[in-house]
Amino acid sequence: MLRECRTLVTGGAGFIGSHLCECLLERGDHVICVDNFYTGTRRNVHHLLSNPRFELMRHDICFPLYIEVDEIFNLACPASPIHYQCDPVQTIKTSVHGAINTLGLAKRVRAQILQASTSEVYGDPHVHPQPEDYWGNVNPIGLRSCYDEGKRCAETLSFDYRRQHNLRIKVARIFNTYGPRMRPDDGRVVSNFIVQALRNQSITIYGDGHQTRSFCYVEDLVKALLLLMATPDDVTGPLNLGNPEEFTIRELAETVIALTGSSSTIVHLPLPADDPRQRCPDISKAQKLLGWSPKVRLRDGLMKAIEYFDQLLGGKKARIARPSWVFANG
Ligand SMILES: NC(=O)c1ccc[n+]([C@@H]2O[C@H](COP(=O)([O-])OP(=O)(O)OC[C@H]3O[C@@H](n4cnc5c(N)ncnc54)[C@H](O)[C@@H]3O)[C@@H](O)[C@H]2O)c1
Repeated sequence: MLRECRTLVTGGAGFIGSHLCECLLERGDHVICVDNFYTGTRRNVHHLLSNPRFELMRHDICFPLYIEVDEIFNLACPASPIHYQCDPVQTIKTSVHGAINTLGLAKRVRAQILQASTSEVYGDPHVHPQPEDYWGNVNPIGLRSCYDEGKRCAETLSFDYRRQHNLRIKVARIFNTYGPRMRPDDGRVVSNFIVQALRNQSITIYGDGHQTRSFCYVEDLVKALLLLMATPDDVTGPLNLGNPEEFTIRELAETVIALTGSSSTIVHLPLPADDPRQRCPDISKAQKLLGWSPKVRLRDGLMKAIEYFDQLLGGKKARIARPSWVFANG
C-alpha cells in the first residue's frame, strides 16, 4: 500500500493556505495545518475539520516545531500592508525565524520545502515586467521593508540551506492573488473595492488610478504551487507566479461596480509612500518549467469573490452603509 504524503502547510488557515489545504486533501495527502490565527481564521478551514486526514494546530512558527512530514509549504506571514505594518517586528520575525524553523524542520526530517515569497522582493521595480533574475529596487528602511526584506531574507535562507545542507527547496514569488476567503478588512485592492461596491459606498482609489496591477485567481495560484513542489530537485526557483494580464486600478474599480450592479462612485485619495506604479510578472519561466499559465479570467474570478463577500456581509438584503474602509491599493 502506498504511504500517503504528510504535508505541512504553515499559514494554512489563511486565504491562500486554506485553498491549498483543500487541494492537498483532494489529492489524498495527510495535511497538517499550522497557524497562529494572526490574520487567518478557523472559519477558513472549518469545512475540513471533519476530514480524518486533516489536522489543525495552533502554533507560532517563530518557535520550532517538531513533527514528521514529507513536504512543507511555508505560507505563514501576514500578506496585506495593514496587517504586516501593524506589528512590523513580528512580521520580520515570522519571515526570518519562521523560515529558520521550517527549514530546520525540513533539514531534520529531510522534507522538501516550498517558501512563499512575494513580488514585493522587487520593490518599486525599474524593469517591467519583472523576470526572476532582476534583483529589485527595495527601500530597506521604509514602512513596507519589514515584509519585503523579511521575504528577501527568507529566500536567502532557503538557498543557504540548500547550499549548506543540500535541502530540497522551492521558492515561489507570488504576485497579487485574490478570491474567496480574503479578509474584508485587509485593505487589499480587490477586497476593498468589492466590499465598498456591495455596500454602495464610494470606491477609494489611491492616486490617479492609472497604476497597474495583475490579479491572479487563487485556484490558478494553488495549482502552480503544487506543480512547483512536484518539479525535480534541480528546479528551485525563485519562480514568478501570477497573472501577467495588467489592469489599471480604475479598470478594476469599474469592473467591480459593473459586476455588483452597485451605485458606488469613485473617489481619489493621495498615493501612499512606496506604492509601486506598475506590478506585472514575467511568468515565462513558470510556463516553461511547470507547463502552467493562469486560466481564470478576471471577471469570472471576481464573480466568485463577489459571491463570497456578499454572503459574508449578510447577502444582498442585509447591505447597509457603514464607514468607508480607508486602506491602500495594495
Ligand atoms: N495574497 C497575495 O496576493 C500574496 C502575494 C504575495 C505573497 N503572498 C504570500 O503568500 C502567503 C499567504 O498569503 P495570504 O494572502 O494567504 O495571507 P493571509 O494573511 O491570509 O495568510 C497568512 C496566514 O499566516 C498566519 N500566520 C501569520 N503569522 C504567523 C506565525 N508567526 N505563525 C503561524 N502562522 C502565522 C496567519 O494567521 C494567516 O492564516 C504569505 O506568505 C504571503 O506573504 C501572498
